[in-house]
Amino acid sequence: KVVVLDFGAQYGQLIARRVRDLGVFSTIAPCDIPAEELADMKPSAIILSGGPASVYAEDAPTIDPAVLELGVPVLGFCYGHQVIAVTLGGRVGHTEKGEYGHADITRCDGGTSKLFGSTPSQQQVWMSHRDAVIQVPEGFRVTSQTAICPVASMECPDRNLYSTQFHPEVRHTPYGQDLLGNFLFNICGLQPNWTMEGIIEDSVRAIQEQVGDSRVILGLSGGVDSSVVAALCARAIGSRLTCVFVNHGLLRKNEPEEVEEVFTKQFDVDFVHVHAEERYAGLLAGVVDPEEKRRIIGTQFWNEFFAVAQDIAEDGRPVQFMAQGTIYPDIIESGARKTGGKASTIKSHHNLIPFPEGVHFDLIEPLDHFFKDEVRALGTALGLPDYIVHRQPFPGPGLAIRIIGDVTPEKLEILKNADAIIREELDAYNAKLFEETGERNSEHSCWQYFAVLPDIKSVGVMGDERTYQRPIILRAVESSDAMTADWAKLPYEVLARVSGRIVAEVPGVNRVLYDITSKPPATIEWE
Ligand code: XMP
Repeated sequence: KVVVLDFGAQYGQLIARRVRDLGVFSTIAPCDIPAEELADMKPSAIILSGGPASVYAEDAPTIDPAVLELGVPVLGFCYGHQVIAVTLGGRVGHTEKGEYGHADITRCDGGTSKLFGSTPSQQQVWMSHRDAVIQVPEGFRVTSQTAICPVASMECPDRNLYSTQFHPEVRHTPYGQDLLGNFLFNICGLQPNWTMEGIIEDSVRAIQEQVGDSRVILGLSGGVDSSVVAALCARAIGSRLTCVFVNHGLLRKNEPEEVEEVFTKQFDVDFVHVHAEERYAGLLAGVVDPEEKRRIIGTQFWNEFFAVAQDIAEDGRPVQFMAQGTIYPDIIESGARKTGGKASTIKSHHNLIPFPEGVHFDLIEPLDHFFKDEVRALGTALGLPDYIVHRQPFPGPGLAIRIIGDVTPEKLEILKNADAIIREELDAYNAKLFEETGERNSEHSCWQYFAVLPDIKSVGVMGDERTYQRPIILRAVESSDAMTADWAKLPYEVLARVSGRIVAEVPGVNRVLYDITSKPPATIEWE
């Protein structure tokens, strides 16, 4: 396996992801892991990620120097490149301008670097740095340069140490995957044999080891993430799994019925439908602040799950384990619970809210290192039906974070009805594209689409009457992993149909707006 040592930022997971894309298993470890502990992981290759710090900053993260003496091939990117240089006696300094974004490198290895292999002598790369290596350590040679950066990459093939100032892991470095492949296959001699079946086996084994012969509660929302966890847990522990569906009354139109139908009729699992609608309505009354809504909803989820855990207690002990479908982007955006605490909080995803007093579970989160499209591939490999695997994402706090301002029954009713129309029309649009292109995620298909209800009213005219009613905002984005997204370039006729239908069919709405902001700078949801 490949171990990625993470220096913070959001690149570590992305590197692990790219390695997995090449069919090689990879995992992440903190950058300061002692060399002995790292050796125990039996890595076939080590990759040092980029990071936000400067190697000369006070408390700059660094590695145990013995990591470079393990005899395992090492590849460093950006900050990792500078760490290798400094650790082995080279020098890093400030460049005059820094480089951010596209840059052109020129190879100066005479075509002999195994890392660059047969890639072109001039190539575009993605850079993001102010510091640069200005003197390579003894025994190293420079393999590429840019006009600004004297050491865009360096290597010491005798010791199998390679590094680049640029980021091969990002899509904006067109030959990045080639370089990574050269490292894994030609330098480390690995084989691309990490398959979905292998992942499933590993995950199932890990769950079995973690829970022994205990029972497990699963927080099931009906979305792809929790459904995949359900399928994995069902494989791992069979009837010792209880799936708990907490209905907080903030679900989309017809959703509770659909989820119950799927999990009681098509899956043979123990399914508990908790009707918590009124408790949630009471807790949310008058609450306006988005993070406050998220906190209340997330905390109450724990209370609801814990109540079930006590109901099905054995020998007076509530169920100890709870499985949930946390995926990697949830963790990153909630402030990096497991990535060393170096990213900032963007929003608190509900399944990362702390336990309230008196509640505790040992968590099982088999998907916490995966991106959405990997989870979907896993779902397909586990035999889940397409309509679950390709369901669009839906946030745990549900429609509460799509109603700006306080949540009331009237607003919920408006939002559910408008949202149902949007889903109907855009489901049809996606289905048509799928038919035409044969690709589910074709260039223009929408990845996520929904209605948002803002807290304003505007004047309109219907028939001969003045109206003073609410607008609905249509949000529709293209994305593959929710980390970044672009607004969908929907054809005008689709927009026109959605708008016409919402105003005609949803009482209380007299205007429809389309959100044309990408992520970043916006987020996909409005709260
Ligand atoms: P944002 O709005 O952060 O959303 O760009 C990224 C993706 O995550 C979904 N989302 C959530 N999912 N719990 C979840 O399970 C949450 O609290 C949550 N908040 C946002 C959102 O729908 C989008 O797909």
